[in-house]
Amino acid sequence: MSTSKYGRLIGASLGPGDPDLITRRAWAALNGGARWAYPVKKAEETSYALEIVRRGGLEIPHDAEPLVFPMTRQAEPLARAWAHAAARTAAMLAEGRDVVFLVEGDASTYATFAHLARTVRELAPGVEIETIPGVSSFAAAAAHLGEPLAGEDDTLAVIPAAYGIEVIDHLIDEFDTLVLLKVKPLLDDVIALLERRGLLHEACLIEKVGSPHERVVRDVSTLRGEKIAYLSLILVRNPGRLRGELQRGCRKKVASKASQPT
Ligand SMILES: C[S@@+](CC[C@H](N)C(=O)[O-])C[C@H]1O[C@@H](n2cnc3c(N)ncnc32)[C@H](O)[C@@H]1O
Repeated sequence: MSTSKYGRLIGASLGPGDPDLITRRAWAALNGGARWAYPVKKAEETSYALEIVRRGGLEIPHDAEPLVFPMTRQAEPLARAWAHAAARTAAMLAEGRDVVFLVEGDASTYATFAHLARTVRELAPGVEIETIPGVSSFAAAAAHLGEPLAGEDDTLAVIPAAYGIEVIDHLIDEFDTLVLLKVKPLLDDVIALLERRGLLHEACLIEKVGSPHERVVRDVSTLRGEKIAYLSLILVRNPGRLRGELQRGCRKKVASKASQPT
């Protein structure tokens, strides 16, 4: 039992859009009497995470608290907004009630929650933090496409596309599956690269997977010049990847495990 004077901060992963992908543990946290906090890009704007819960049939508590995380790279306003969100969260926790922070996708994968939790811990040392894992956007996207993210011996990389075309070009040679997150600003350059590498037909873009606004584009060349949603990702397979030697011992272990389903 916790002796902290603060409530617990719970990061509840809600999956990428379909409320059926909310885990039982996250559902229990939402229904457990905790104060809700949810991220918005601007004050008065709707929250993608909150909409997942609403579609799941839960009533939004009257005291659910929006926390503003602006979509800007400008250091000063960003730092101010983050500091405000952390201070508000710490103040709510100081009332002694648990706070459940709603997270789109998985809370440990490129999510606001990790940074929020770290900052809150600085303001409220001793606060207990729980992260409830969930379904990531790319796990749901692969399942939706009926493609494995990685099969036996495959390599898999997940990166923000912002690393740039040169890095993506290099990673295509190293990984059987490449997941490009935050692809919106680089879309045309990525399409040009895929064309040059002969991989246009091995790529697929998914927008807002699992939500009512989901869009799947299997011919990504049709998206040239188009504006896509921020919540979009591209999965690329490279069937021609040259594989190195695999360690014999590891191969043996894999082979002997093959008869035991996992
Ligand atoms: C800040 S990251 C959040 C990742 C999220 N925590 C997860 O587990 O997938 C945002 C990026 O993830 C991807 N993403 C998140 N949710 C998505 C969705 N529902 N559909 C498609 N892509 C999504 C997009 O590439 C987006 O730019």
